[in-house]
Amino acid sequence: MEVITIANNKGGVGKTMQCFQLACHLANKGNKILVIDLDSQANLSSTFGVQIQRTLIPEWLIGDVDFEDVVVQVEGKEDFYKNISIIPSSRHMANLSKLLILSEAEIRKSAGRKERLLKNRIDKIKENYDYVIIDTPPMLGDELIMALVAADKVLIPTQAQDYSIDGLEELMDTFEIIKETENPDLEFSIIPSMVNRRRKIEQQRLHELSQSFHITPSIRNLVNMQESISTKRPIFLLGKRARGREDYEALWEALDL
Ligand SMILES: Nc1ncnc2c1ncn2[C@@H]1O[C@H](COP(=O)(O)OP(=O)(O)OP(=O)(O)O)[C@@H](O)[C@H]1O
Ligand SMILES: [Mg+2]
Repeated sequence: MEVITIANNKGGVGKTMQCFQLACHLANKGNKILVIDLDSQANLSSTFGVQIQRTLIPEWLIGDVDFEDVVVQVEGKEDFYKNISIIPSSRHMANLSKLLILSEAEIRKSAGRKERLLKNRIDKIKENYDYVIIDTPPMLGDELIMALVAADKVLIPTQAQDYSIDGLEELMDTFEIIKETENPDLEFSIIPSMVNRRRKIEQQRLHELSQSFHITPSIRNLVNMQESISTKRPIFLLGKRARGREDYEALWEALDL
């Protein structure tokens, strides 16, 4: 089983898009997938047709409720959706930090450090899945830290713009700390996201980025990617000529997924 976390503390860079396309792609290849939505905006949950009143993720993390109480099957006509389960989020996810502070003593006794809570929970159910895919909120908080500690691989969608690239440094600092302290084998890939390939300035930024990091093939800013989300259908179902499909096929091949 492999745990893949999609992360960027910058908002609106295409994290949730990446999670949705990746989970559907891997499920369509016959893999059993668990998706975990750690973002209180719950965008990924609703794209998978799952809306809940109140998520119990915080209670699951501290051990007050079982896995069966937080996991549901996703909705969808095609066969591959049967391979996807999700732990959905809701705005109550925002209570996580408070609950972690209130239960700190208890957590230390039973699970050790709070950064490891998610990893510990995933370790218990890992033989049931081929991949666990985690969507994270756009901030460097407890959710993101836990998701980095739990991951084997981190995918970092990044826009080819100045502020996005500056913001990467903060994320990479956190990544390095986690690697040194908790997760020495952690790997990352930077995925240029929502790229306009005709804009010279974006090409220039991507070139600069590739001098410092290994970057994957890019995903263009395309209307059919937005359609994929609004119709809740992955890009590979939107017809052979959907341009986003080519981009994702090249990306999955480069990432060996
Ligand atoms: N390649 C793309 N082409 C066009 N639109 C895109 C593309 N990728 C994402 N979008 C759109 O951009 C918006 C932001 O994408 P998304 O929600 O995936 O970002 P995010 O990083 O998860 O945001 P947040 O930080 O708020 O969670 C959405 O409306 C999405 O449909
Ligand atoms: Mg998102």
